[in-house]
Amino acid sequence: MARRVKIPMLHTSIFFREPEMWAKLEKLIMQRYSKYTKFQVLDLGCSWGAEAYSLAYTLHKLGYNYHITAVDQNPEVVNYASKGVFKFDSNLRRVYRETDIFIQEGDGVIQGFVVNDVYRQKISFSVADITTSTFWKTLRRNTFHLVVIRYVLIHIPTEKIPFILDNIYQILTPQGLLFLGRSEKIEKYSSNFKKIERGIYEPLRY
Ligand SMILES: C[S@@+](CC[C@H](N)C(=O)[O-])C[C@H]1O[C@@H](n2cnc3c(N)ncnc32)[C@H](O)[C@@H]1O
Repeated sequence: MARRVKIPMLHTSIFFREPEMWAKLEKLIMQRYSKYTKFQVLDLGCSWGAEAYSLAYTLHKLGYNYHITAVDQNPEVVNYASKGVFKFDSNLRRVYRETDIFIQEGDGVIQGFVVNDVYRQKISFSVADITTSTFWKTLRRNTFHLVVIRYVLIHIPTEKIPFILDNIYQILTPQGLLFLGRSEKIEKYSSNFKKIERGIYEPLRY
């Protein structure tokens, strides 16, 4: 019997959330980066991984060689994400039909959709708290072409947001992109970024 998974709202992660934003992101990536770029992505607050797998699919489709570093502070969702088996859900059935993210619709043995290894092996999921210096010290400056932090800052104490944005600024490449949720704004927390589109920013280099 197919089962529905119950994930608290705090950990909601959706494949291709706000599709029109994904189309804009694709366009910006192609404008900025040649196919020879070894594309590095940092996915902050990845939850159970829908976004990381959406990113993997997108970069593969665009023809990039890429790696995604995905982190979340909650060990349970990180464990779920890294297994790459998603419980049945009508949304996922659509993703299964329209992409090759899932190779298999499970049966009596595997109760869910199984992620294609092509994508799974390109993502490293780990547990980390992005409000701590310990986490940021593990990352190299000027390394990431894309930082994704969608619907995560809303869960962070406001006094910690400038610290996180400052660190994102340091680890982004000069042409890097910062991908937020459509309705998310960062102007009041940092003057180091310029808005390109709703929810998409780039670092200002002085
Ligand atoms: C609403 S989910 C967003 C998931 C995903 N970014 C998306 O939009 O599909 C928010 C996630 O942020 C994570 N999060 C909140 N505070 C965090 C922190 N300090 N460090 C790492 N992850 C955090 C939560 O555990 C949760 O999984």
